[in-house]
Amino acid sequence: MNVGIDLISFYTSNYFIELKTLATTRGVDPAKYYIGIGQEKMAIPPPDEDIVTMAANAALPIIKQIDPAQIDLVLFGTESGIDQSKAAAAFVHGMLGLSHRCRAVELKEACYGATAAVHLAMAHVRTKPDSKALVIGSDVARYELGSPGEPTQGCGAVAMIVSSNPRTMKIDLQSGIYTDDVMDFWRPNYRDQALVDGKYSTRVYLHALEEAWKHYQEQTGRSFGDFARFCYHLPFTRMAEKAHERLAKFCGVELAAGDLERQIGDTLFYNRITGNSYAASLYVGLCSLLDRSAEDLGGKRIGMYSYGSGCVAEFFSGTIQPGYCAHLQTARHAKMLAERAELTFRQYEDIYNLRFPTDGGDHEFTRYRTAPFRLAGVKAHKRHYVHSA
Ligand code: HMG
Repeated sequence: MNVGIDLISFYTSNYFIELKTLATTRGVDPAKYYIGIGQEKMAIPPPDEDIVTMAANAALPIIKQIDPAQIDLVLFGTESGIDQSKAAAAFVHGMLGLSHRCRAVELKEACYGATAAVHLAMAHVRTKPDSKALVIGSDVARYELGSPGEPTQGCGAVAMIVSSNPRTMKIDLQSGIYTDDVMDFWRPNYRDQALVDGKYSTRVYLHALEEAWKHYQEQTGRSFGDFARFCYHLPFTRMAEKAHERLAKFCGVELAAGDLERQIGDTLFYNRITGNSYAASLYVGLCSLLDRSAEDLGGKRIGMYSYGSGCVAEFFSGTIQPGYCAHLQTARHAKMLAERAELTFRQYEDIYNLRFPTDGGDHEFTRYRTAPFRLAGVKAHKRHYVHSA
């Protein structure tokens, strides 16, 4: 049975800061951000946007394209959870009005959470071929102000329908996995910014890539040349370039001029102007590839590398389905990104320093620009989400 991604949709905040602005204020040469880490803009969520609103806003357009009653599983991968107990999936389930005969669960393993969700959803669909799963990755990447991680912040959500006979990407059964108990990046429950051993994290990411690839190759016998394109987890775009160069070298492949750009260039565009979106980021790269590729990718095999600090990594693959373009959200993605508003440095810092009310009082949040779902406020420690279209 063919199982994989039937529909895919991406959402990010309507606000961003130019990394030129950040560089100027921090006294850093902008070339370090634009060239050294390969980022141009960071998406910043306003106070009435969180992982739940981003997820619901990503999911709504594709939910409208199917019979939502068929969804009997909602899996939500995130590492910026808003509640220690209630799953973000349960909020989204309610906001989208899904069937009560449905499981709704949140998964966590840093940026790997959504990939775990995709594979669990595929196993579910294999046992119940008529069912559909809604898989979400949604995160806000947040580091300390002035830290080396600061220019790699961002936010975004990707929603996917996983089903049999998928219209976008059939995912192969075999994949390569690598897990190791390391402290490269973490966020204790009492902190709202991540802690990271930055340089070490990049080394672990690359080592895990080699290990996951080795396992993938043992399972499948495929080689580097079997892939038309590669999508890598994107903490920043330069990381994917380094990963691709590393994988090619590991496979004994010499990249010719233009190969890097042709094999991964289209996957980087959205991340470069939104920043890291942790669990969503690999799939933001996939959206970017599908939306921007001038070549018809129908029938082509794509290599996918998911990395979550801590760490769990997986190399898997899928084949883009003929006619996939008709089912993409390309026009909506372009409009959303084109209509975003730029923040000044002061506005960015003010939003960053705002603290979520924890006093149990009744707080109504200022209305910013969001897609239909927004976080209207909090009362008695309960978040209040509204559909404001
Ligand atoms: P840093 O240490 O300040 O930067 O921060 P650097 O000194 O290493 O410079 C970065 C690059 O810019 C270097 O290039 C410099 O040479 C270059 P490289 O040697 O790497 O090729 N550079 C310049 N280029 C042009 N003009 C200039 C200039 N100056 C310098 N003037 C670091 C870098 C990655 C450490 C930092 O951004 C960080 O800590 N980021 C957060 C952690 C991270 O993203 N790690 C990635 C792997 S782990 C991962 O992906 C998982 C994650 O998504 C979390 C999860 O799983 O949940 C993070």
